[in-house]
Amino acid sequence: MTLTAVHTQSPTRTPTRRRYLVCPPRFFTVRYSINPWMHPEVPTDGERALRQWQVLVATYRRLGHVVEEIEPHPDLPDMVFAANAAVIFGGRVYGARFRFPQRVPEAALYRERLRELGFTDVTEPHFVNEGEGDFLVVGSRFVLAGYGMRTDPRAHAEAEAVLGLPVISLELVDPRYYHLDTALAVLDETTIAYYPPAFSSAGRRILAELFPDALVVDDADAAVLGLNAVSDGYHVVLPVQAHHFAAQLADRGFQPVPVDVSEFRKAGGGPKCATLELRV
Ligand code: ARG
Repeated sequence: MTLTAVHTQSPTRTPTRRRYLVCPPRFFTVRYSINPWMHPEVPTDGERALRQWQVLVATYRRLGHVVEEIEPHPDLPDMVFAANAAVIFGGRVYGARFRFPQRVPEAALYRERLRELGFTDVTEPHFVNEGEGDFLVVGSRFVLAGYGMRTDPRAHAEAEAVLGLPVISLELVDPRYYHLDTALAVLDETTIAYYPPAFSSAGRRILAELFPDALVVDDADAAVLGLNAVSDGYHVVLPVQAHHFAAQLADRGFQPVPVDVSEFRKAGGGPKCATLELRV
């Protein structure tokens, strides 16, 4: 006879208040292709994109977070993806240097806005890097950093020196998961979720060793960019299409907060791409 299943106790999760920088998608569209998700011949719906983004921002505010904005630029349709513009830790800003010419001008606009918001320690990088797209800060322990698609691996050492945190390099091998934040989500100081096939075998080995309790996401959830999620340590804002991942989160004591950002997936983005965390 079997007894009722005994579940391992989930730890109590505590949200912490965050400060984010976002960019209204007034000029968002897909007019060039720099990743496999982008098909300029598939139309985007500007009003729908704006509504989806407004719900995302309202969600952050409802969860108690502070949200700052930057003005969008008519010539920069990907500027809504604020995460790519920098990575910030301890008030130190390591700026971006975009790989593709279409996005290059975004870096200076964001550096300027960050200065206005009170960040005085702002570094303009030597090496190509796409900010929090490829640099994910794990509490105050270290930074997980992607390379192989966008960010130059030499930027990893540069970021380490600027931010004062160890940087752990992970190679990305699947063009659909071209930024680290499309294949891995940091949930708290000790917990991540990821999609192993997006990483080289060396990368998978490192992640398995560092995070033996990681949530491993399936093909279907990865393919809706489910890992492009924003966690405050308890609430995890994620794409509504990532059903199984939401259940996995709930099972582990997190609260999934689904949002529909389907318009942004047409550019290869999601909630996390649209959000730059300002860590003082
Ligand atoms: N179209 C943008 C690009 O390819 C999407 C950026 C998504 N951002 C992210 N953090 N993954 O650059």
